[in-house]
Amino acid sequence: MRILGIETSCDETSAAVAESDGRSFEVRSNVVSSQIKIHAKYGGVVPEVAARKHVEAILPVVEKALGPGGAEKIDAVAVASGPGLITSLLVGNEVAKILSWFWKKPLARINHIEAHIYANWFLNKKINFPALCLVVSGGHTELILMRGHGKHEVIGETRDDAAGECFDKTAKILGLGYPGGPAIAAVAARFKIEDLRFKIELPRPMIDTKDFDFSFSGLKTAVLYAARDLSNKYKMEEIVPAMAYEVQEAIVDVLIYKTIKAAKKYNVKTVMLAGGVSANERLRERFSGVMEKELPGVDWNVPPFEYCTDNAAMVAAAGYFHAIKKDFTPWQKLKVDPNWEL
Ligand code: KG4
Ligand code: ZN
Repeated sequence: MRILGIETSCDETSAAVAESDGRSFEVRSNVVSSQIKIHAKYGGVVPEVAARKHVEAILPVVEKALGPGGAEKIDAVAVASGPGLITSLLVGNEVAKILSWFWKKPLARINHIEAHIYANWFLNKKINFPALCLVVSGGHTELILMRGHGKHEVIGETRDDAAGECFDKTAKILGLGYPGGPAIAAVAARFKIEDLRFKIELPRPMIDTKDFDFSFSGLKTAVLYAARDLSNKYKMEEIVPAMAYEVQEAIVDVLIYKTIKAAKKYNVKTVMLAGGVSANERLRERFSGVMEKELPGVDWNVPPFEYCTDNAAMVAAAGYFHAIKKDFTPWQKLKVDPNWEL
């Protein structure tokens, strides 16, 4: 079965064709037109600008993803309908509606967070349930227990900022630009802990609580105050790399600790990562190391790097699992939901 996926939740316009025979997935195309350079000037995504850029990009992106004659072989259209920016979502959803109507092909309405989880299916490994997924994106930090396809339970989530937001806001404080996650990761990777000439003590928020919730807004404030205090004695060139390193360690510590604790409590068979922050090398490395050490009999997955941040291939993969259950939405009833909770 061949699915056309469409993704316009935030600042990436993407279309992809993914194919599955039920056993493995093949991504035929995954076209992503990023608006990062445009929004970087403003230090974050400007919704009105994002929507206009989606309007400009969507048809060329869909055309490129389909390739010559590709439209004839599509069995279904899948589109991310939320959560996200309403005006951005509308662009992809209107195009999906038109294609579904014109081609007379069924339409699958996909939750963007669910789509992130399905990036793990591109590893083409059998994923055994119950599975636990740590979803870490720009707006979400959630621990999701999956008992089967379409059976999700959020067992923990952030009470304020998401981990991605903490990366982005900290990068802004440190003058590292947008998006903050890759910027912090790049600076932190060059830092050597032996070179540290001062002490930085950042909190590990909520690491000791009994639940599986998170909180990252205090960490960002801790970085602000620590950088301000240190700047009386040291140069910013010295403070910024050390702070980038330490904040990444603090975020990764909390994410890993709570994920492992939840995996043990729920006795899961698979643990996975998903979302933009799962592209973080330090998180991936620590996750694999801790899984091997603490849960040796449990499978673990990290999505292929290119499918961690927003892309339409993951929407197509989620669409496949809706399609085999005939879980479709008639185009007349397709609605976006900017606050759609999984
Ligand atoms: O999933 P995503 O692409 O979009 C949303 O659905 O929000 O996630 C974007 C987030 C941003 O906060 C970005 O800074 C973060 O993912 N991110 C990273 C890395 N790459 C992207 N955070 C840490 N390390 C990275 N390498
Ligand atoms: Zn996303």
